[in-house]
Amino acid sequence: MKQTITCFPEKVPLKYIQRYLQRYILEHIIGRVLRWPLEETWLQPTDLIYNSCRCAIYQYLSHINKAHPHLTTKPLVLIPSLHCRSQVEAALAASYTTSFYRVNRDLTVNEADVVRYVQGHSGLVVLCLVHYYGFPPAGLNIRHLLNYTHHPLFILEDGAHGLFSPIGHVGDASVYSLSKSLPVRDGGVLRLCQDHPPIGLHPTPSPWSFVAQLNPVIKAILKATPLYTIRSLIKTTLTRRLAARNTTVTQPNKHVEKMFTAAHANVPAAPLTHVVISQLSQATAHVREYRQRNFTYLAQHVSNLPNIKPLFASYRKEFEMGVSPLAFPIITSNRDRLESRLADEGIITFAFGREPHKSLNMHDIPETQWLMDHTLALPCHQDLSQTDLQRIVTAVIRSI
Ligand SMILES: Cc1ncc(COP(=O)(O)O)c(C=O)c1O
Repeated sequence: MKQTITCFPEKVPLKYIQRYLQRYILEHIIGRVLRWPLEETWLQPTDLIYNSCRCAIYQYLSHINKAHPHLTTKPLVLIPSLHCRSQVEAALAASYTTSFYRVNRDLTVNEADVVRYVQGHSGLVVLCLVHYYGFPPAGLNIRHLLNYTHHPLFILEDGAHGLFSPIGHVGDASVYSLSKSLPVRDGGVLRLCQDHPPIGLHPTPSPWSFVAQLNPVIKAILKATPLYTIRSLIKTTLTRRLAARNTTVTQPNKHVEKMFTAAHANVPAAPLTHVVISQLSQATAHVREYRQRNFTYLAQHVSNLPNIKPLFASYRKEFEMGVSPLAFPIITSNRDRLESRLADEGIITFAFGREPHKSLNMHDIPETQWLMDHTLALPCHQDLSQTDLQRIVTAVIRSI
């Protein structure tokens, strides 16, 4: 039986695990005594690593809030109407109030909404700009925006979807999610812009973090054994059965289902995550190149099928700029049926933004609602082979 294809890289190469074990011994047994620093070749020296991107968002917002004690009005985060609800929960946990600016059908920002909220708030405002699927946000003139307020305005670029995309050039800070682009179970990065004053927000391990850190290692080792194949086979069979019974297929979308609680704010990323990052200095270009190649293949083979439109019909300019796409999103009228049929074929897709935060008023956002109901993201990550891509295309053709 065929393996399931998902949107996120799954397999941690064995060499990483070996390196991890070596490093674990060095770091935890000898390193504790000698206090050896970890070398992180992919990261910049001022980057802060947390257990997730939502945690990085929370930490940044908390810091900015604390840095403005004289402002009595509750700080505001402007979040796009198409979002991951963990962004909203991180903002609320950091004691912010939230407002949603509209996102148009082509994913551009509704600038008038942003200006209205910025002008209408008399305290600190943080504008969260999402790089959807790794592509840069459009429709907003940042310089223009700064003229609209005399109060502090910070821009946080959310690069959760585009770890290796060109992100962080317009904002005061940017955040990234490691587990969406790399074969790791956790990890989020907070990167400050060059002239941002440093912030001392290094996560402090809790006594339980040791247990939490072992979990991904055990999973990674299991994945390298036949047990994982058996588990995948059982999972695929169950998914097929569910689909056959016409039951809604629950997505194994580890990223969206998790929610943020402030209790997780200080859990550091697992050592395995650090090891994978430290191995990736050479891989940045490789990951980007393979994702672009796979995206282009899908664009050529899927875009002209009936009832399918690519969300990014033109992408070449962005690829030249260095965009590393998270997935290949399509617009299709019977999205849920296609999703379910693809799952039946072992292709696990995702529908970004499908579960917005409950505080979002759906009546105000027909454009975003349309995106939520019609978008489906197909896998295009770096570990997919030509056979995998052909399987995706064949499955889409059979399923539409
Ligand atoms: C746009 C966006 N930002 C932030 C996050 C949170 O990322 P993480 O799962 O690493 O906390 C997500 C999760 O899906 C997301 O889609």
